[in-house]
Amino acid sequence: MKGKKWLALFAAAALVVSAAGCGGTGGSAADETDTQEQAGETAEEESGDTAIVLSDAAKNHADDGEEIIGISMPAEHLPRWNQDGNYLKKNFEDAGYTVDIKWADNKIDTQRQDIHDLVNDGVDILLIAAVKGTELNDVLAEAKAAEIPVIAYDRIIDSDSVEYYVSFDNDMVGQLEGEHIRDMLDLENAGDKTYNMEIVSGDSNDKNADGYYNGAMGVLQPYLDSGTLQVPSGETGYHETETFQWSTEKANERMTNILTSYYADGTQLDAVLCANDTAAIGVADAIRDSYSGDNQVLLTGQDGDVDNLKNIMDGRQTMTVYKCLPHETQAMYDVTVAFMNGEEIGPDLIQTAGWDFDVVYADDRYSNGTDYMKSFLLTPLTITKDNLIEELVDTGFYTMNDDGTFTVAE
Ligand code: BGC
Repeated sequence: MKGKKWLALFAAAALVVSAAGCGGTGGSAADETDTQEQAGETAEEESGDTAIVLSDAAKNHADDGEEIIGISMPAEHLPRWNQDGNYLKKNFEDAGYTVDIKWADNKIDTQRQDIHDLVNDGVDILLIAAVKGTELNDVLAEAKAAEIPVIAYDRIIDSDSVEYYVSFDNDMVGQLEGEHIRDMLDLENAGDKTYNMEIVSGDSNDKNADGYYNGAMGVLQPYLDSGTLQVPSGETGYHETETFQWSTEKANERMTNILTSYYADGTQLDAVLCANDTAAIGVADAIRDSYSGDNQVLLTGQDGDVDNLKNIMDGRQTMTVYKCLPHETQAMYDVTVAFMNGEEIGPDLIQTAGWDFDVVYADDRYSNGTDYMKSFLLTPLTITKDNLIEELVDTGFYTMNDDGTFTVAE
């Protein structure tokens, strides 16, 4: 068994907290009772407060002779999270750790239950990519009571139980999307010319979406202010442009409405600032089905999902921001192992872990709602038709099949 040196560090900081007043809004007392019965736990009452009740496995996880990595992922059916979860699982299993992974089907309550179960299964550390990072306070209080540290993966979590964060630089993702539109339309030299753009933002349940929107608007707002960029639908705000669950269908529905309402008279659409690839599929289909112009519409995304890579080669999407998941999961693995080995988590880890990809350490960028998290932020990369093969296929991350489709390499 590997040493649990981290536990002494963590125990010093851990608080025994009660579920009442922890700020979570998703779980009722009735839910809690059902859950406890399922887990075979005994309930304790404390004058007016519902005490956190931990299973024996949760109470004894530090002394049970096993190191179990608990992973809670948003959804198995979504390409990016499926890859993240499976890469993480493989990294830890290959190194001899036991992994307990749960997938939440993109449902907040399912993830809350998953985390509750992982705590009570006796995991030693929790790695979480949140469905909704503001709704986990009470289950994370259980983790804290059980002295189980939590590392946020990719998505920001609002909870003081979370001290560490591994992600790509969210603002930079948005910035690269904005720069693509700025540079492709040469907005700097537009003179009196004006261009029409629409905005498709991510899901505001996910705080990353905020970073992408702000990063992109940081680049494009001056051109909106000067009138060089126009938005015929008039919808420019974060919330009015958001896409629930980053859904392809929702993005398709909204873009179809915009195209039939504001572009049916022949108005030219020049660009769609679209937050990610799942939404970009819906936008590309809406353009194919409901737009009568014959210009190539600039369309952004992020992730490098295989269907979007095909769309880029076919000219139906003009860029994606590639976030290399093998690198992000490698960084998460190394931060987790360093933490479990009782090592200091700080900028030096970038050297000691020997990462051969660009990462920045920041402790003043992303907050857990109370404090800044110690964050490792990987650098994302703009992919267009011009560099796709070189950056993604020649490097071995994807293979391109004879029919022009892509497959994520093993
Ligand atoms: C991730 C993106 C992803 C989106 C939808 C965000 O939190 O950072 O990579 O496209 O969620 O799953």
